[in-house]
Amino acid sequence: MKRTAATFIEAASKGERLVVMTAYDYSMARLADACGIDAILVGDSLGMVCLGYRDTLRVTMEDMIHHTRAVSRGTKDALLIADMPFMSYQVSVEEAVRNAGRLVQEGYAEAIKLEGGTDVLDHVKAIVRAQIPVMGHIGLTPQSVNIFGGFKVQGRQFEAAKKLIDDARRLEDAGAFSITLECVPAALSEKITEAVSIPTIGIGAGPSCDGQVLVFHDMLGMFSDFRPKFVKVFSDAGESMREGIRKYSEEVRNGAFPTDEHSFTIDPEIIEKL
Ligand code: KIV
Repeated sequence: MKRTAATFIEAASKGERLVVMTAYDYSMARLADACGIDAILVGDSLGMVCLGYRDTLRVTMEDMIHHTRAVSRGTKDALLIADMPFMSYQVSVEEAVRNAGRLVQEGYAEAIKLEGGTDVLDHVKAIVRAQIPVMGHIGLTPQSVNIFGGFKVQGRQFEAAKKLIDDARRLEDAGAFSITLECVPAALSEKITEAVSIPTIGIGAGPSCDGQVLVFHDMLGMFSDFRPKFVKVFSDAGESMREGIRKYSEEVRNGAFPTDEHSFTIDPEIIEKL
């Protein structure tokens, strides 16, 4: 069944928990989509896990379009959401709408996600007015890493917690179909989830959210630069890849690979004549 922003809201309203994960290319999208997950997010985390940057700030619209288009070719049923990268929406509402449109027209995204609360309400309204579903993202918004002074849990103080609840309500009023909550204390996520009727999708935000999102490389053990507390490795594909690469190296070096099974034949008479 094809998932859309509308089925996303419907599923959460029935109490079904939503499964979201990131993907950044065709093969990853095929793998995730075939497992029946609800949405694939082409996150700007691709800057860290695919491009090797230390944060997400260097990711460009061109990067996002390139990766989103690749993911779209491997996505059949999941809702395809693309992140708006740093500086693609902060400067003006017009730029935000134009760049959200590019992610749809050139990247084939079906929805976009942008970071921020009260500061981006006009942007959210204008993008929704352009008929593009918007997912909000509050709590630890990685594009604000330099303001936060690092990747830190958000909303632990009273005023900050109150602001997050307020931001979530306002994002819903602005037309967002869902909100990502990143690195928010579990009890606060529960309050935020109760305060809005659209689905909350948590990452490091405890079990009360309507759904969860994880980064592909984190949950499959493929990124070892650092591992946030909220990451669970569900299958250590990274170790299995390393084992495969070690075996390949060994067999190339000792001549065990390739054998006849992996080689092509030619008429021996032709070889004789050469
Ligand atoms: O960029 C990303 O992968 C994200 C998730 C962490 C929610 O925004």
